[in-house]
Amino acid sequence: MPNELEVTLTDAVIARLADGAEPRFRRIAQSLIRHLHDFVRDVEPTEEEWFEAIKFLTATGQKCDDKRQEFILLSDVLGVSMLVDAVNHRSSGATTETTVLGPFFVHGAPEIENGGDMAAGWPGEPAYVSGRVLSTEGRPLPGALLDLWQSNSEGNYDVQIADTGGKQLRAKLRTDADGCFRFRTILPTSYPVPTDGPVGLILNRMGRHPMRPAHLHFMVSAPGYETVVTHLFVKGDPYLESDVVFGVKDSLVVDFRRSESQAEAQKAGLTAPFYSASYDFVLRPAGAAKQQAARAASDAVQSSVRRQSEKE
Ligand SMILES: [Fe+2]
Repeated sequence: MPNELEVTLTDAVIARLADGAEPRFRRIAQSLIRHLHDFVRDVEPTEEEWFEAIKFLTATGQKCDDKRQEFILLSDVLGVSMLVDAVNHRSSGATTETTVLGPFFVHGAPEIENGGDMAAGWPGEPAYVSGRVLSTEGRPLPGALLDLWQSNSEGNYDVQIADTGGKQLRAKLRTDADGCFRFRTILPTSYPVPTDGPVGLILNRMGRHPMRPAHLHFMVSAPGYETVVTHLFVKGDPYLESDVVFGVKDSLVVDFRRSESQAEAQKAGLTAPFYSASYDFVLRPAGAAKQQAARAASDAVQSSVRRQSEKE
């Protein structure tokens, strides 16, 4: 039989929120308190278990530094990052689908020219990636910025490797007058997320593998358009169905075609054998998502009013 405090405490905590608190903050705080309290009522943790949880979150914070982001990783492996992505990018299907930013994005990647090599000096299987950046009406977007990052052929990002300076296997480049981009790199490989921290411990206790399917990261932006943060995944990767961060969407799986043609390789500035992939990114005008959400809300209100009047 629950005691009185178990029943009344949630409302008592919420009642302490100041009336003048900013409305959005107030809504978030109320929901957080309710869900956390419901979680405790549901699980009924022992005091030792609750202290374990506090120690786990403390260790997660202590694992973070300017190169390691254990909280993003935790959010990723629990599926929270993809859920946040989903509620923020309700695509109508006309735009490129989004996926997680991940913990390895770094500001200030070096700019390379269109067609340049973002993997200069790194061993791996040569790859050539090209495509266009378009608006939802199919108009090419010249000068669109692509921010790219990827792991090396052993599945490590530069920030995980000592003495790389943290600016390698990363590049920024801009589309040409026809909205086209192209760059050379190495074929990405599947890799495990870092397991030497608290996130590794919980993956282990859940009985889950830590692997991500091979992918290239893209952040594509153009003035007046919504930025797209996404990946291109390598078709055929064995981890596409079980990505540890739940980031795979079918529309982002791309064929990296293997070619042994020296002539084709030369055109791309590479030597055979090499892999090539092509993809067009589609951006929607900034504010389109808000308009779409407002239209959906308005439709929902109208259909609710219709249902109400049909009943009457
Ligand atoms: Fe990645």
